[in-house]
Amino acid sequence: MRVFNAFDRLINEVDASLRTLFVKPATMRPSPAEQHKNAIDLTNAERINAGRLMRVNHSGEVAAQGLYRAQALTARTPEIRAQMQHSSDEENEHLNWCETRIDALGTHKSYLNPLWYWGSFAIGSIAGKAGDRWSLGFVKETEDQVVRHLNQHLTQLPANDIEDLAVVKKMKADEQHHANVAASSGASRLPLIVRKVFMPVTAKVMTTLSYRL
Ligand SMILES: [Fe+2]
Ligand SMILES: [Fe+2]
Repeated sequence: MRVFNAFDRLINEVDASLRTLFVKPATMRPSPAEQHKNAIDLTNAERINAGRLMRVNHSGEVAAQGLYRAQALTARTPEIRAQMQHSSDEENEHLNWCETRIDALGTHKSYLNPLWYWGSFAIGSIAGKAGDRWSLGFVKETEDQVVRHLNQHLTQLPANDIEDLAVVKKMKADEQHHANVAASSGASRLPLIVRKVFMPVTAKVMTTLSYRL
């Protein structure tokens, strides 16, 4: 079997980032929106707001790809590497679902996605280098915060927008599962300043900018 050197790995990661940013990934599970197709017409204002909220969620999934790719790359053990890779595959389905909704709502993906991807990749590398327990701790905390964020979106999306609500609900269940798996795999609890300051502030910057751009 060929052993990859540092340059091979770099090319691999650039390739993965370009795919995440510019190619809609395949999805094994159909989007939860499918069963409600064209259920109810939204007003123009509702459609614009829903499009922006789903763009924010799409950016979150782009960031998740950067995080998980970096954490898989820096994992110490094959088990943790495989776990990070599996989560990354599931997040790819979320990317597909969000992009489909963005298209249907007539808006665009965030122009800042390259920044979110590579910024998250850098953060994921630091978490991974700190060791598997910290890396898992970072996954656990990230997913917990994403679940709280998605809960907010469930109240912010128009109540009759059942297609987007179905997508967000399913994503929330998946993210909760990712958090549980990380916790049961031996995640360490992150320092308070990381949980309460660094992560919420970076998430706020990303969600605020992606809503607009
Ligand atoms: Fe996700
Ligand atoms: Fe997740």
